[in-house]
This record gives sequence, C-alpha cells and structure tokens, in this order.
Amino acid sequence: MQPPSSIAHHHRFFIKTYGCQMNSYDSEKMSDILKSKLKMVETNSIDDADLIIMNTCSIREKAQEKVFSELGRWKKSLGHRQAVIAVTGCVASQEAEQLIKRAPIVNLVLGPQTIHRLPLMYLAHLMHKTPQVDVSFPEIEKFDQLPQKTTESVTAFLSIMEGCNKYCTYCIVPYTRGTEISRSYNDVMNEAKHLVAKGIKEITLLGQNVNDYDGTIDQTGESANLALLIHAISHLSGIQRIRFTTSHPAAFDQTLIDAYSVATSKLCKHLHLPVQSGSNRILSLMKRDYTCEQYIDIIQALKQCCPGITISTDIIVGFPGETDDDFEQTLKLVDTIGYDHSYSFIYSPRPGTPASSLKDLIPLNVKKERLALLQTKLKESAQYIAQDMLNRSQPVLVESVSQHLPGHLMGRTENNRVVQFQGPEELVGNMTNVTITQILDNSLRGRLEHTTQPHAESIEI
Ligand code: SAH
Ligand code: SF4
Ligand code: F3S
Repeated sequence: MQPPSSIAHHHRFFIKTYGCQMNSYDSEKMSDILKSKLKMVETNSIDDADLIIMNTCSIREKAQEKVFSELGRWKKSLGHRQAVIAVTGCVASQEAEQLIKRAPIVNLVLGPQTIHRLPLMYLAHLMHKTPQVDVSFPEIEKFDQLPQKTTESVTAFLSIMEGCNKYCTYCIVPYTRGTEISRSYNDVMNEAKHLVAKGIKEITLLGQNVNDYDGTIDQTGESANLALLIHAISHLSGIQRIRFTTSHPAAFDQTLIDAYSVATSKLCKHLHLPVQSGSNRILSLMKRDYTCEQYIDIIQALKQCCPGITISTDIIVGFPGETDDDFEQTLKLVDTIGYDHSYSFIYSPRPGTPASSLKDLIPLNVKKERLALLQTKLKESAQYIAQDMLNRSQPVLVESVSQHLPGHLMGRTENNRVVQFQGPEELVGNMTNVTITQILDNSLRGRLEHTTQPHAESIEI
C-alpha cells in the first residue's frame, strides 16, 4: 500500500509572505518541510499551485486587511480551479476558525507555532476534504520538527526564541505568538553549525526580544544569554557576520554592549533598537519599561565601546494622548541619536490590547502631519550617514550577482545598506572592500578596491 504522504508527491505549493523576518524564517521552514516530508515542489505563482499559502501579519490594521483583499484576488483568479488555501502566521493565530467563516475559500489555518504540522494538515484535508485549524502554542516543539535549511544563499535567519512577554500596551504580538520561550543553546548552535557548513556567511539571530534570550546548555544545565551565543557563533569557522533583531532597550545589559568590542566578535557595527517614542510619559503609557535617558545611555555606551556603530529604530506616532509636546520630544530624540535608516508608523489600535481601549482623540490629519515631519527628519538623518560613507572604503559581504545591473555584484555594508559595484562573480559569498562612489535613494554604488582577491575570505579560520 502507498504511504499516505505519497498522495502529495510532486504537488506544487506557492507561499506569499507578509510581516517581519520571523515570518520570512517560518516561510522558508514551511517550504523546506513540504519539500522534505511530502516531496512537494515550490512554484512562484498561484496559477499552477495545488497548495497556496499566505503567511500573514497583524501588527497594524492595514496588514490584517491585506489578507482579506489578497484572498479575494486569489478567489477571482482561481475561478473554477481547485486549490487548497492555507493561512498561517499572526492573522491566522488571532482569527482561528473565524477566518474560515469570513473567507470560506480558506481550508487550512495554522498559527506561527504549528507550521511544522502543515504536511499532516494538508494530507488530512486531501483525504477528508474538511477544514483543518491548529493555532495552538505547543511550546518549542516546532523547532524539533523542522528540517535544516536546504536553499543556497550567503545570509540566513536563525530563530532563537518564540513569543514575547513584554505586553507593550499597543502590541498584538504576545497574543499571536504566545509566551516568550527560548530554544536551547545546543539547538541554536546545531542550526548555526549547519548553516555555516552550507556556506552561510552571515547569520541574523531572530526573536521579538532577543536580549531576553535564555537558552539552556544541555551539558551543564546552565543558561546562555545572547552575548554568549554571539561569542560562540563568532568562533564557527567561516562565519563572517552576525546580526540580531529585535532587541529591547530594557535589559540591554553590559555583556551585550561588550559583545560589540571583543576583538573576535563578528557582530556588525549596527544595531536596530526600537525606541517607539521620545516622551517618557508616552513610553510609560506604552509600558516600555525604560526612559529616554536610559535609552540614550545605552546608545552612548555602545558608541564608546564600538566607535562608528550606527543605530536604527522604530517609532510610533499618534499613540492615544500624544500631545504636540510629546511629539516634539520624539523629534528631539531623533536629533540626539542621529539614526540610520529607520521605520515609523501611525499608531493602529489592535483588538484586545490595553491601548485599544484608551480614548484616541488625535485627528487623523494631525497623525499624518506628525508622521510626515518625522519621516522627513529620519530621512535626513539617514542621508547624513550615507554622505559620510561617500568616498570611503566599506567592508561589504557580497551576496549575489546584481539582478538589475549587468556585470555588477550586490552586497551589503555593515549598516545593512545595499551596494552595487562591478566585480567578478567569484566574489559572491566573500567579504571585500568597496569604496562608495554614489548615494542613491535606496542603495549605494561603489568601486571594488583593487587589493581584494577573489576567495580571500574562503580561507578557514
Ligand atoms: N519586538 C519589537 C517590535 C516588533 S513589531 C520591539 O519591541 O521593538 C515592529 C514595530 O511595529 C514596532 O517596533 C512598532 O514600532 C510597530 N508597531 C507595533 N504595534 C503597533 C501598532 N499597534 N500600531 C503601530 N505600530 C505598531
Ligand atoms: Fe510587541 Fe513590545 Fe513584544 Fe516588541 S516587545 S513584540 S513591541 S509586545
Ligand atoms: Fe507581524 Fe506577527 Fe511579525 S504580527 S510583525 S508577523 S510577529
């Protein structure tokens, strides 16, 4: 008799991903598990897909609504063709069965912590033709079940924890991703070793709150913090760069600050540290657990131990009760820090969060004006940093051949800016030095320095 899994062999699947890097990581894992467990094949369009997956985000109302408009488009374009539709991620977690009621075209609903059950749920649906819903939080089981990365690339994400316990008053994540839980140190290290063995040169450690990382070390029963993990990964042969996101300004401890200055550390001289507001009154209403002064102290300590480090951030404008004066303080903070490329959003009330029951009396046009002012300032600040890079040599990790410019390569600087420059394909996967020659709106152009030898970085350390 055929094993049940064989009924899906060579079925095609398509994944559309919204939201944060954790969702990108999860999408890649879903792709790997469908290929390895069911021998399915990935396709890049819904037109020939048997299984169509939407990995969703609900951080703001717009992100959530996108799900339903996209499902409407899929329904139209499928016409009478049969395909199984799965919705995964944070909207799935939040809506569960309700999602199928609102969009009956959906057959499978999986939360962020049950994506490893997708193959079984797909088979169950094929056999029984019934909707399958699983948005539970079965602790860390997901990571034990997911296969190792199979796709070829130079950079990779590595999820080190799930969930969040901070409960910032505006945020939906603790409800959609569940309680904060760290993967064990050994698990994370095994995945990191597998990645570098496959030729990955840059690892971004992922979690909503990675400076709370607390992973058990199997051998001793003791726990490892983020700084220890960074040191251990820095010593893996072949690794060139480490990044982490997102960290939280509360409990950004000295060991993590020191991790930037250790000679052997492979941490990039860049940190994304969301501040959310420059007003202590608003920070307290947001329940962020730090003051602006504490935030500035962290940045100053980092700049001292790691000269040249650049900082980016996330800021919310129009939080309920934000006055002109609160907003002015945010603008002042942006001036004080001098941020690199950052993100800013108008506050969006999320169902079930404490802030959603606060009176929101700020007119939309005022919120929009504040956002425009802030974005202009953030842009100027990022351009100032870019100008400072002009005509200077930058260490660049070459990620690929440029998609748009023939004969060019694409890499990233330490502060995560895309740079394109002429060079030989053999440099892909290597560190090289590039002099920045032009600043464009969303990227840089550069010139390869002649001292660089292809394969210079493939020497084992
Ligand atoms: N864990 C990260 C943030 C993850 S969400 C942290 O603590 O900083 C990414 C960003 O979305 C947040 O930094 C915040 O700026 C924004 N965000 C979250 N909830 C929001 C909401 N309800 N309205 C508007 N922006 C929001
Ligand atoms: Fe949301 Fe706050 Fe957790 Fe970040 S730390 S995910 S903003 S609750
Ligand atoms: Fe969105 Fe969920 Fe990430 S709400 S930002 S996909 S954790």
